[in-house]
Amino acid sequence: MDANTNSNRDEWGSRVGFILAAVGSAVGLGNMWRFSYTAAEGGGAAFVFMYVLFVALIGIPVMTSEMVIGRLAQESPARAIKRLGGDMWAPLGWLFVFCGIGILSYYSVIAGWTIRLVIDAARQAVPTDTGAYFGAISVGKWSVIGHLVFMAMTISIVVGGIKKGLERASLILMPFLFLILIGLALWAATLGGSGEAYSFYLNPDFSAITPAIIGSALGQAFFSLSLGMGALMTYASYLKTKENLAQEATIISMADFGVAFVAGLVVFPIIFTFGLQEQVGASAIGTLFISLPAAFQEMGNVGAIITVAFFVMLFFGALSSAISLLEVGVTALVDNGMPRKKAAIMLGVAIALLGIPSALDTNILGAADQLIGNFLLILGGFLTTVLIGWKLLPQADAELAQGFDKPGARAAWGFIIKFLVPPVLLIVLVFTVVGPTYTAIMALFQ
Ligand code: TRP
Repeated sequence: MDANTNSNRDEWGSRVGFILAAVGSAVGLGNMWRFSYTAAEGGGAAFVFMYVLFVALIGIPVMTSEMVIGRLAQESPARAIKRLGGDMWAPLGWLFVFCGIGILSYYSVIAGWTIRLVIDAARQAVPTDTGAYFGAISVGKWSVIGHLVFMAMTISIVVGGIKKGLERASLILMPFLFLILIGLALWAATLGGSGEAYSFYLNPDFSAITPAIIGSALGQAFFSLSLGMGALMTYASYLKTKENLAQEATIISMADFGVAFVAGLVVFPIIFTFGLQEQVGASAIGTLFISLPAAFQEMGNVGAIITVAFFVMLFFGALSSAISLLEVGVTALVDNGMPRKKAAIMLGVAIALLGIPSALDTNILGAADQLIGNFLLILGGFLTTVLIGWKLLPQADAELAQGFDKPGARAAWGFIIKFLVPPVLLIVLVFTVVGPTYTAIMALFQ
């Protein structure tokens, strides 16, 4: 059966519904957990500077292309890529599904930590030494249980179909999350260490920009914007209305950037004020979970309430992102004839099992995040833009034109997708592989 004539496919109820669900996909743990940890690791402002550059020059055009192809195809990315690109491109579709499975397997572990933190904060049972506390909750039995609970919730939402589940959830939650963050950033500005923090976070030392920082800023841009694995392509495949996709990609990207940026305005003043540099240095992956609870503790009862509110919001942000990660694989199975419920449960259970090692060892989690977030997503983005820029550009341009009647701007987009993005991604990919290999080889000779 041809998916184009498949009248059983869901579709978005409204343009706003699509945008909010896409923002829901983009905004999640990536904006807070991953952004604060990669920014801390990348030395602050130098990383942030590269990140902003990548979001604007690469993220927005790539997001536009993914959505254009999704709307054009009206079927799962895995199938669309094979049909539009030819059999040779089929592996790219598998790479998408693989990335979705891989990311969700550890993403869910981190979301599980937020559940644990909410429960402990509500019982006022978070110890003062939040570094040690993070060390305890991030591994072991409760880490596994949190992960499994989170996966169960993700599966049950995806089983419900896109319209019902997603649209409603993101509609209510995203604005709240942003308001809480703004309030916290204002409060963080009053802290003693905020001056030092702002200069760490916002005043770049350009000589500090290394290939490793460039690579991790690019990986972070892809991860945070949900790019490189067909997530927003999947969402756009449920679009029937011909709206301006370039404009929507811009709105979604700015919203995503805004949340990450404001999260940094909260996290870094806390780290500098409460002297948490050392703990964060020892466990960068725990940056968010070490810093926020430490600060909230200083506020007594109010702090417990804020901790609960913040991490509940973050939990929902994670849930709306997780849904999109699972949806890529589920849509692929559904478009091949499997019932949605069966597809979601089968895939979800497999992911839950796959994530258990990450729930037991943060080094495994970090390595998986490194491999997929900083390498496979960029690889996926590279191949996607080569396909779109070098093979499908006329079709893609005609599709984008429906809703975006600006030939000049479209030509600029086409130029970026064809000549700017693939080389930049390729260079970063080469450095990501060559850098560690070189270090490893040199180590052999010492
Ligand atoms: N962007 C989400 C976040 O920042 C995570 C996510 C959802 C994602 N879907 C994705 C990342 C697709 C990469 C690709 O939390």
